Amino acid sequence: MSGRIAIVTGAARGIGAGTAVRLAADGMAVAVLDLNEADCAATVKEIENAGGKALAVGADVSKTDQVHAAVERIAAELGAPTVLVNNAGITRDAMMFKMTDEQWDSVIAVNLRGPFLMTRAVQKYMTEQTWGRIVNISSSSGLGNRGQANYAATKAGIEGFTKTLAKELGKFGITANAVAPHFIATDMTSAMATNLKMSFEDLVETYKKQIPVNRVGQPADVAAAISFLVGEDAGFVSGQVLYVAGGPLC
Ligand SMILES: NC(=O)c1ccc[n+]([C@@H]2O[C@H](COP(=O)([O-])OP(=O)(O)OC[C@H]3O[C@@H](n4cnc5c(N)ncnc54)[C@H](O)[C@@H]3O)[C@@H](O)[C@H]2O)c1
Repeated sequence: MSGRIAIVTGAARGIGAGTAVRLAADGMAVAVLDLNEADCAATVKEIENAGGKALAVGADVSKTDQVHAAVERIAAELGAPTVLVNNAGITRDAMMFKMTDEQWDSVIAVNLRGPFLMTRAVQKYMTEQTWGRIVNISSSSGLGNRGQANYAATKAGIEGFTKTLAKELGKFGITANAVAPHFIATDMTSAMATNLKMSFEDLVETYKKQIPVNRVGQPADVAAAISFLVGEDAGFVSGQVLYVAGGPLC
């Protein structure tokens, strides 16, 4: 994968940071994109300390102008991006009957509009090169989850979006797949513990008992699956949803 340019959104921390570090270790130059450029510094430093190449980019993936400017800057400073990981995502949990318009709209904006805007901006570089890899981050919550009507709708939606990308862009040598993690230890699940008024350790213990491999996931687990899907060898795998969940979900 040496010489490829990758963009990872939401890469200042959590799964995005783990993925950026992994793709850089695979030989890619990585645009580390998040809301604030300064917040990307730690991920960039980790990549550079390991001998890799990275660029910090500040942009809100739900804003058309910011997405356009970010992608143009990445193309100018790193080169044509042909790997895109749409990872940035948020939760605004509430039971549906008391979910506000703002809670609904903000999650749709980041988790669904964001990947659409990013993919639309990047696909031209992929089609020009007749090679591309898109990975969208779904979730086990896409199967339905109490208190997450907004989030579940975006994650089920991203899977339909992914399959459509696979059909529309396949003839240009571009694959599109989704990775659907279950519980991964990040700030997002830490905030979940706070909302549930329990310690993160207790929440981890609760989930561990339900997960066949008897542990929760780490960002590196998701990054490893993404590394495969964006690799040269995965060119015949497209339109799939790969669960990274420590076991089957039913
Ligand atoms: N942690 C889990 O258990 C889990 C499980 C399934 C799916 N996911 C998904 O994985 C992805 C990453 O989750 P995480 O746990 O690392 O979350 P996180 O909250 O730790 O990190 C998310 C990152 O996205 C950034 N971000 C948020 N809104 C943005 C925007 N508008 N533009 C650009 N960047 C933005 C945040 O600043 C943050 O750095 C999300 O799509 C999430 O839905 C997480």
